Amino acid sequence: MTVEPNVNLNEPNADISEILISADEIEKRIQTLGVQISSDYAELQPLVVGVLKGVLFFMADLLRAITINVEVDFMAVSSYSPEARDQGLVRLVKDLETPISGRHVIFVEDVVDTGLTLNYLLRNLTTRDPASLEVCTLFNKPKHRLIDIPIKYKGFDLPDQFVVGYGLDHRERYRNLPFIGVLNPQAL
Ligand code: PRP
Repeated sequence: MTVEPNVNLNEPNADISEILISADEIEKRIQTLGVQISSDYAELQPLVVGVLKGVLFFMADLLRAITINVEVDFMAVSSYSPEARDQGLVRLVKDLETPISGRHVIFVEDVVDTGLTLNYLLRNLTTRDPASLEVCTLFNKPKHRLIDIPIKYKGFDLPDQFVVGYGLDHRERYRNLPFIGVLNPQAL
């Protein structure tokens, strides 16, 4: 593994050409989503389900912005291959530990792009007979959407650019940036 010099990830650097959404903007938007969810689900004790790994930071911040009782669980998926992914085939590598029959489920994603992953997982969860199932995504990339899926809670629309940060990666790097930045094409 190549060891590269440290960069200050809190400042724009050669790999990031522009900050699109600041950490402050992200925090404020998540607070608003937390208030909405707390109001909509008061008394319902929803199960908040996140899809690893990109959702890590959003889940942590969203859960702390929610002021009602919730339960938390995670799923993880992996692609068989890029071609399989293009066809909407994903492999479940970690399933829920919680039965969801009769539960109010909020399904949380960091980003919805084509919608294929979300479509696969929602179809899977629907067969388990939840009382309700709604989607909350922090980022939405509508440009490449192949399947139209209702998204009840949405943070930001993103343009058709390669962006990283706040959980979004390029080859597993940049997830820990606290903002959303445009990746310099030279870093691709
Ligand atoms: C991202 C994201 C969604 C999916 C969205 O996961 O978390 O699960 O891509 O893309 P789609 O709408 O085109 O299906 P990714 O596979 O990058 O894994 P990660 O969360 O581990 O980064």
